Amino acid sequence: MFILGIESSCDDTAAAILADDRVLSSVLTSQDAIHSPYGGIVPELASRRHLQAVVPVVAEALRRAEINLVEVGLIAVTRGPGLVGSLLVGFSYARALAHVRRIPLVGVDHMAGHILSTFLGEDPPSFPYLALIVSGGNSSIYLAEDYCRFRLLGRTRDDAAGEAFDKVAKLLDIPYPGGPQVAALAAGGNRQAIRFPRARLAEDSLDFSFSGLKTAVRNEIFQQRQQDQPSCTLADLCASFQEAVVEVLVDKTVLAARQTGVSRVAIGGGVSANERLRTAFTDRCRQEGLRFHAPPRQYSTDNAAMIAFAGWHSYQQQGPLPADADVYSRSPLG
Ligand code: KG4
Repeated sequence: MFILGIESSCDDTAAAILADDRVLSSVLTSQDAIHSPYGGIVPELASRRHLQAVVPVVAEALRRAEINLVEVGLIAVTRGPGLVGSLLVGFSYARALAHVRRIPLVGVDHMAGHILSTFLGEDPPSFPYLALIVSGGNSSIYLAEDYCRFRLLGRTRDDAAGEAFDKVAKLLDIPYPGGPQVAALAAGGNRQAIRFPRARLAEDSLDFSFSGLKTAVRNEIFQQRQQDQPSCTLADLCASFQEAVVEVLVDKTVLAARQTGVSRVAIGGGVSANERLRTAFTDRCRQEGLRFHAPPRQYSTDNAAMIAFAGWHSYQQQGPLPADADVYSRSPLG
């Protein structure tokens, strides 16, 4: 069956075509240039841009997959969490298409999409596995029991990991979203240059906290700017900050593996594109005897292929979405 996936939960409009669980096309338009001057996402501008983009993005996904809309047998759309105004654009369009074409519609939780994104690569995990989802809005550890059952084991109590990257970028006057640029700067730095704090909370806790780290980076930048001769480079500062984030993410995920006895670990979400995070996980999982799975880089950040994949499996287990279903801003998955 051909599945059309549509994603519009935040600031990217995306569409994808899958043939069962094989990706035929995946198209995305980014709104970074629109929001960058404001230093963050402006919800109303995001909704308006989705409205302009959704029709051409879906058309392009069909064109690249070399199929016609009449051949699509199922539409999967992100139902939440996210910005309600943004979600409603993709959701309303998907519902209208499904209604006119008389085909089923399935609603997908964006977090479920990220949890399952490693299945879009060459080395998918088997169930059960642990999924660390790290993006601009989330830092959570889930136990994935099957394609539709996910248990939240830990989450951030304040900032998400991607948010911490973006806030540090802002302190350095790098335009939003600065996470990837901070990571690029970090690649040339010494990760031991500054020992930033690692918030571990209680010994057995699987929760995260990144707000203290952000404050420590702000203080360090302030001190460095006071000195005539800064004691470290910008690259060193970024590398040291990144190391503090990566170390906690890896440690807590390994702790979750010990607590649950689950030996497979996957990552997903925008921050899972981070090269240092991938290397640290690869090394640590090898030491701990765990199998590590990362999604292909283009499916780390928001995309519609993961929505179509999750929707296809959800449809097989739970059937189509009821006609009166609505979008939601907060995920029931936590
Ligand atoms: O999953 P995503 O595309 O959107 C959601 O937040 O749902 O994630 C975007 C986040 C941003 O905070 C961005 O700065 C961060 O992921 N990000 C990175 C990298 N690439 C994207 N953070 C660190 N290193 C990267 N290479």
